[in-house]
Amino acid sequence: MCGIVGYIGHREAQPVLLNCLGRLEYRGYDSCGIAIPGNGIEVYKDAVRVAQLEKSVPQNGANIGIGHTRWATHGKPSQINAHPHTDCDGRIAVVHNGVVYNFQRLKDQLVAEGHTFRSETDTEVIPHLIEKYYRGDLEEAVKRSLLEINGSYAIVVLDQGSHRLVAARKESPLIIGIGDREWFIASDVPAILDYTDRVIYLEDGDVAVVTPEEERITNDGKEVAREEHLIPWSIDEAEKSGYEHFLIKEIHEQPKAIQNTLRGYLSAVEPAIELGVDIDADDILIQACGTSYHAGLVGKYIIEELAGVPVRVEIASEFNYDHTVLGKTMVIGITQSGESADTLLGLKKAKRLGNKTMVITNVLGSSATRITDQVFYIRAGPEISVAATKSFTAQLVALYLIALSAAKIEFKGRASLVEELRKLPVKVQRILDEEDKIARLGKYLAGFDNAFFVARGINFPVALEGALKLKEISYIHAEGYPAGELKHGPFALLTPHTPVIAIAAKDDTYEAVLTNIKEIKARESPVIAVAEESDDEIEKYVDFVIKVPGVEPIFSPVVNSVALQLLAYYAARERGCPIDMPRNLAKSVTVE
Ligand code: F6R
Repeated sequence: MCGIVGYIGHREAQPVLLNCLGRLEYRGYDSCGIAIPGNGIEVYKDAVRVAQLEKSVPQNGANIGIGHTRWATHGKPSQINAHPHTDCDGRIAVVHNGVVYNFQRLKDQLVAEGHTFRSETDTEVIPHLIEKYYRGDLEEAVKRSLLEINGSYAIVVLDQGSHRLVAARKESPLIIGIGDREWFIASDVPAILDYTDRVIYLEDGDVAVVTPEEERITNDGKEVAREEHLIPWSIDEAEKSGYEHFLIKEIHEQPKAIQNTLRGYLSAVEPAIELGVDIDADDILIQACGTSYHAGLVGKYIIEELAGVPVRVEIASEFNYDHTVLGKTMVIGITQSGESADTLLGLKKAKRLGNKTMVITNVLGSSATRITDQVFYIRAGPEISVAATKSFTAQLVALYLIALSAAKIEFKGRASLVEELRKLPVKVQRILDEEDKIARLGKYLAGFDNAFFVARGINFPVALEGALKLKEISYIHAEGYPAGELKHGPFALLTPHTPVIAIAAKDDTYEAVLTNIKEIKARESPVIAVAEESDDEIEKYVDFVIKVPGVEPIFSPVVNSVALQLLAYYAARERGCPIDMPRNLAKSVTVE
């Protein structure tokens, strides 16, 4: 995710800014840059690592400056699109995290007024707006400009000559670190911990002016005092925002990640969906690997039910041996990284055969986006832990949006489904709030060497994903099965030492799953059910129940998979496994 830093004080700014940016590298980025006053405002930026950027930045003695690590959202990763961005005359420089939703309208207006733009970013409208409203007072110009912006932001602004930084935030974090006659501004605590542990958290609507003497914060025109906090974390702890592992941090980021996926495509008021992609196909073939393949399997149920378009799902590495004639099939690749070699090969094959192609991915400018005709970004933010969590639920949300928009006829209940989609972040948060109960069951599960995950219908792929998550991070051997299939062989493995996790969603599979659970209990396996909180029946038949909030049945894979992620995490933690980097695994599998 993008990172912001700013410095003003008695040290030379350039090494401080680069060091702070280095501390943000763990968050993932594709380009970086800094701006310092010199001969005008001097900007050094490129699509390179911080260490490479350092080589091109001269020491110039300035003791004020701003910097940024960018994770592209508008416009590909490139030198031009990297931050900081400047106004026409290069007198004002801005770093920005967040999204300016109305940037196109603002840009058109500014261009008509004579402003020249260089990048494809939404951010670039901000320095131009500040230039437009600048009448000798940077703070006033920033405040006036922010009135025009519809979206979220954390910004730091540097201008030529006033020797102050102006920072502002709305729905995107920003802190001020207080040193001894020096100030640090950052999007994240780890950026500044080498220098100070004294921190002020800015609040929405705050505008801060930081000079070599003081910081002054106003909100809605009135001066406000924000409490100073002492950060008790080491840098390592701070990178994980105090969480023990990136995996659990990313599990907890899901309400926000889902919201970001929705926000990009769903209008705030209407049930209208603006995807920017077109699913005009008689049938669809989804191909992907691992967790993304499981999202594809859920996608089959979603798209067939909501859009009525037939869907086939293939494991990418097998799709390459498939000689079925594809006809006019649209081929969709799902890949968090956009770099999985097998998925790329599958997409290339589809292109070669003349099929329409699309990728659902998290990484802007990744290889898959350069191969396909259409791209759908899930906007989940960087996923650091090797095992996929938030990208999976964001992929599911992408598939709901695609299916809802592909539905050719306006069906009854569409508006209420869109409303339910909007509520998913809150429902997911409720599971996270009940984490302790799942943690206890995770610890219990840690005592076994084998487990089964079972479900029917749309939750069968969730059982597969639950098993994958458990095996890869806890090293407990686990298999996902259709609940009705265990008796066709795997029953031979059921003993009191083989727990079965059964998803009992309140849909048309419920009664059949209940019957399967009774069969399993008769073989003395311990059963953990994942069931809706309103379900009082299930407790009679199982050993433990993980309760999840009630949702429309089609959305149950989202809540159920979050519960299973937590279960796997706490089992792995209990077993002392290297959760973020399981043995033998890599985040991007770039070989066939
Ligand atoms: C499991 C996991 C992997 C990936 C798979 C595909 O937790 O992360 O199974 O899902 O390697 O990766 P992407 O989605 O990047 O193509």
